[in-house]
Amino acid sequence: MNIPASQQLLVLYSREQIEKRVAELGEAITRDYAGESIVMIGVLKGSAIFLADLARSVRVDCSFDFVAVSSYKKGRTTSGAVKLMKDLDEPIEGKHVIIVEDILDTGITLGYLRKVFLGHHPKSLKIAACLDKPARRIEPIEADYVGFSIPNQFVVGYGMDYAEKFRNLPDICILPPDFPL
Ligand code: IMP
Ligand code: MG
Repeated sequence: MNIPASQQLLVLYSREQIEKRVAELGEAITRDYAGESIVMIGVLKGSAIFLADLARSVRVDCSFDFVAVSSYKKGRTTSGAVKLMKDLDEPIEGKHVIIVEDILDTGITLGYLRKVFLGHHPKSLKIAACLDKPARRIEPIEADYVGFSIPNQFVVGYGMDYAEKFRNLPDICILPPDFPL
């Protein structure tokens, strides 16, 4: 019999816990940028849902842009090399920029994006990551706003995928190591 995949996933953070934490991050950003305008740059596709919630929880003038990078191959392992697949639509020179990412893992993706964006001379550049896996870090990089710091486990849901699946789960769930592709 086919057991629905959702029944094999363990909830790490429920939608209620995520909602509460995102509201706190929104408060912090609202405080830090009071009276300023910010640009949130989402890293497609994983950050889309986090960005949608985070942007609605801040009370400062906020616009969006999106970039796409290819860093992860299908599955759980990284290829190591990052390539920009979709660039910014609008210039960020002189603007307050927050990169919005689903997970800060090895740090290779955000290390690359930070370097690229700093080359555009923003007024400031910060990073918001829904999740942080500090144990996996290769590049020395930290996020300024972190939802949850988690151990080295592969997670899905709330925008995050395994081979493009599970992005629409409202909770953040742990994918068992033996989960079939
Ligand atoms: P980094 O360059 O290793 O920091 O890669 C970060 C990217 O890897 C994230 O934006 C995710 O797309 C992906 N990633 C890392 N860990 C996970 C995970 O547990 N679940 C889903 N995607 C992950
Ligand atoms: Mg990603």
